[in-house]
Amino acid sequence: MSNPSLLILPGDGIGQEVMVEVRKIIDWYGENRGLNFDVSEDLVGGAAYDKHGVPLADETMAKAQEVDAVLLGAVGGPKYDVLDFSVKPERGLLRLRKEMDLFANLRPAQCFDALADFSSLKKDIVSGLDIMIVRELTSGSYFGEPRGIFEENGQRVGINTQRYTEAEIARVARSAFELARRRNNRVCSMEKANVMESGILWRDVVEEIHKAEYSDVELSHMYADNGAMQLVRAPKQFDVILTDNLFGDILSDCAAMLTGSLGMLPSASLGAPMENGRPKAMYEPVHGSAPDIMGQGKANPCACILSFAMALRYSFDQGEEATRLETAVEKVLASGVRTGDLMQSDGGTPVSTSQMGDAILAELSSSL
Ligand code: IPM
Ligand code: MG
Repeated sequence: MSNPSLLILPGDGIGQEVMVEVRKIIDWYGENRGLNFDVSEDLVGGAAYDKHGVPLADETMAKAQEVDAVLLGAVGGPKYDVLDFSVKPERGLLRLRKEMDLFANLRPAQCFDALADFSSLKKDIVSGLDIMIVRELTSGSYFGEPRGIFEENGQRVGINTQRYTEAEIARVARSAFELARRRNNRVCSMEKANVMESGILWRDVVEEIHKAEYSDVELSHMYADNGAMQLVRAPKQFDVILTDNLFGDILSDCAAMLTGSLGMLPSASLGAPMENGRPKAMYEPVHGSAPDIMGQGKANPCACILSFAMALRYSFDQGEEATRLETAVEKVLASGVRTGDLMQSDGGTPVSTSQMGDAILAELSSSL
């Protein structure tokens, strides 16, 4: 059998630096666990624009469709702010999501014990926090038509459309219920059914799927604004949060910050199963390209490394190896090794991006 294939798209800014560390981890798995991947690398975002004049070349898109999983670093940077909307780095990312049909975006927000002090909330509110946001990723107001800036009665009008079909809601709801079954069996669905018809339909369809297929899972509903408030008030009440594309974008940033460490959070974007039974998938850290610290060896590679752990779990059926990697990261943090983003101002000397990667490698090796 051929090796599973992995397309690496480091992208821009610190995306490139953190991916160097991920590649060390991938090599470690080949050398020590007999897990070999066919790894290829290509450009996305500003890096692709610089070479091809577009944020994602057609050939790269075609490769992404063929591999077992894509691992992406980050896209964007101030250099590209002046570009036309249609070729901005973010468009490359959105094209990947849309054309691979990665409708379920899994964004865990987990508070590592060693980092509970970093949260802007009180320690007892966040310690032990482990929630999973399932964000719909290929529809809603990010993609709905009509969209654009038009001229109407002598003035401009900007339009985006929140649009969801039953099928789009149903499939992401199933993803959330399936995940909940493997966690703490609770789903809270968030929309604005009090003001939006799309929210009313969302709630109805989630109810229907629940009743017909997942009545063993505990389901609740919340208006998304209340959800934001509850996330900050008492986040541990949640297990899986199911929500749409735009609310999910906002709520997941909020949830990420509860943990105090954006540099720690991975994500997975999953589509329908392919012929081999694996879902189409792309994995990426939640953080962005961080142009302010790029090229200085300051970036925290953990989020990207943990994204690879998610790939091991969701694309390669290597749940135990995923746990091994997650545990290694946790132990390294617990031992006090920190990149700058994980330090209080008086916290001593931060390690570099590559020192963090090496510490995780050493921890992996001692786990054998
Ligand atoms: C995210 C980001 C993206 C989004 C941007 C970079 C297009 O904020 O993944 O949350 O809005 O979806
Ligand atoms: Mg976002």
